[in-house]
Amino acid sequence: MKIDGSAAIVTGASSGIGDATARLLASRGARVVLAARRAARIEALAAELPGAIAVPTDVTDKDQLAHLVERCLEAHGRVDILVNNAGQGLHVPLLDLRPDDLRAVLELNVIAPLTAMQLVLPSMRAQGGGAIVNVSSATSLRLFPGLSGYAATKAALNLLSQIGRMELASAGVAVSVVYPSVTATEFHQSLRAGQFAGGARRFPADPPELVATTIAFAIETGEAHLMVEDPPRGGPAPRPRSGQRRPVGGGACPPDAGRPRVGGWRGRANGAAGSGGGAVILVTAAAGRTGRSLIPALVRRGHAVRALDVDPGVDRLRDLGAAETIAGDMLDPGDVDRAVDGVEAVVHIGPPMHPREAEMGHAVVTAARRAGVSHLVQFSVTHPQLEPLLNHQSKLAVERMVLLSRMPFTILQPMHYMQNIDVRRVVERGALTQPFALDTPLQHVDVEDVTEVAALVVTDPQHHYATYELCGSDYLNARQLAAVIQSVSGRPVAPEQVPVAHAFSVGAPSGAADAPPSEEDDWRRDAMVRLFDHYGRHGITGNPNVLGWLLGRPPTTFQEYVRRSLG
Ligand SMILES: NC(=O)c1ccc[n+]([C@@H]2O[C@H](COP(=O)([O-])OP(=O)(O)OC[C@H]3O[C@@H](n4cnc5c(N)ncnc54)[C@H](OP(=O)(O)O)[C@@H]3O)[C@@H](O)[C@H]2O)c1
Repeated sequence: MKIDGSAAIVTGASSGIGDATARLLASRGARVVLAARRAARIEALAAELPGAIAVPTDVTDKDQLAHLVERCLEAHGRVDILVNNAGQGLHVPLLDLRPDDLRAVLELNVIAPLTAMQLVLPSMRAQGGGAIVNVSSATSLRLFPGLSGYAATKAALNLLSQIGRMELASAGVAVSVVYPSVTATEFHQSLRAGQFAGGARRFPADPPELVATTIAFAIETGEAHLMVEDPPRGGPAPRPRSGQRRPVGGGACPPDAGRPRVGGWRGRANGAAGSGGGAVILVTAAAGRTGRSLIPALVRRGHAVRALDVDPGVDRLRDLGAAETIAGDMLDPGDVDRAVDGVEAVVHIGPPMHPREAEMGHAVVTAARRAGVSHLVQFSVTHPQLEPLLNHQSKLAVERMVLLSRMPFTILQPMHYMQNIDVRRVVERGALTQPFALDTPLQHVDVEDVTEVAALVVTDPQHHYATYELCGSDYLNARQLAAVIQSVSGRPVAPEQVPVAHAFSVGAPSGAADAPPSEEDDWRRDAMVRLFDHYGRHGITGNPNVLGWLLGRPPTTFQEYVRRSLG
């Protein structure tokens, strides 16, 4: 929708994002109709903006909303744009969430935008089109303790918008959702109940003008979803570099995108061309198990690796072939900007079982996009939609950010690594221990297979916009795994179920038992308990086909892994 010459209603225009949006739309030639309860503020703003009118409105009152739309029609004869921005936060834990507060915020954040949409639609239909932008929140894409009430209202707004978008497409009306993150406005001082929840965040709050730019971009393009930062500061979405494809039809895979062939192990041969060497690749959380396996795989393909890890000993990764190392924190924007600067591609590995993994993912995706990185490979997990598992929940949140980033991406979803079983140790102790039922089968994958795939896809545009489940073919319970280790090693190995608490004491630093657990420890313990509970009751399954197609050979079996470990 063209902004110049349009008639645009902006709710919540008396401060923050609404004020900035009204100014921006007016500066681009829109005749804005300003709505909010504080009449003096919107009247003062209307006096500054050419062609603007102020209509004092409580958007939770249907009659006042109807009057607002009538005033726009009287003044301009049409309504081209509706920005449903008025909203309020409700930041209290579930136990303290008062139904009256939730009802009030639902009225404002959900019912009012719905009513406003219903009121403008007859005119938009008659005109042959229009643009509706609903201002949601990034909190509706992640799970933040303490924000259930507020996030639930915004999640409801998301679905109203998405389904409304489908229903209204034929009338030429584009419904978009914009998801701001923490923004520097009065919002945090005018919550319905509770307190500002972004205190732990190290990133500066976004200026409301940045959200306004995103809202204007949504109006112009009609895109369905826009995270703020999208488009990046400084202008519209980056153009694809040569050889890259952009998503079409709301991010769907382009029709000509290369895909692995189906049927047998006939994909890319090991080491085949197609992942041209010579690029500088950033690997995050590089000192972990995945990173340490990935660095040599990238170097073998001729890439220069820049390794980022919070571990001050990250320099040791040079022994594995890393060309550059950065000791830095993914929660520190300066470190992340430094790490992405000048790289061709980013392989983002979240730190395993970290309560702030989603925040780190957001930081890396945002920085990579701003830096114009050509390709982002995200290490996720098989079945991230198993949201009761906290680590899956974090990975799913990052997947959503990657999908909304409008950067070329490849999402890798590896299964539980075989390397979680230390075969030498099992043989030494004569026991394979695990903190859940011995009869539940689990699928595994060899980390070396997974990182071989990551090195293969990272510079190959054929893998843009793909999500690959990476899973080995064995589906074995602990008794069967122990039998494999016993037969390969020739030493007795008994399976043994240990109490869940045992899993936490093993490997804990000495003296740690006396120290009070940190919040991070508590989160991790909760995440592990849920994981073991899920594994014990359901196991975890996956399919090896995609991994085989990508490798051009069958995935490594558990028996081969045991042989390699003991060899
Ligand atoms: N700031 C953030 O960090 C953030 C993050 C994510 C999403 N958001 C969303 O962004 C939108 C704008 O928030 P903001 O940050 O700009 O906050 P803000 O500065 O507090 O602005 C809120 C606006 O909503 C208006 N409003 C509240 N109740 C109203 C009612 N009953 N009728 C009419 N207008 C009403 C307020 O005007 P009056 O009081 O004059 O009526 C004000 O103009 C909200 O939907 C919010 O949920 C904000």
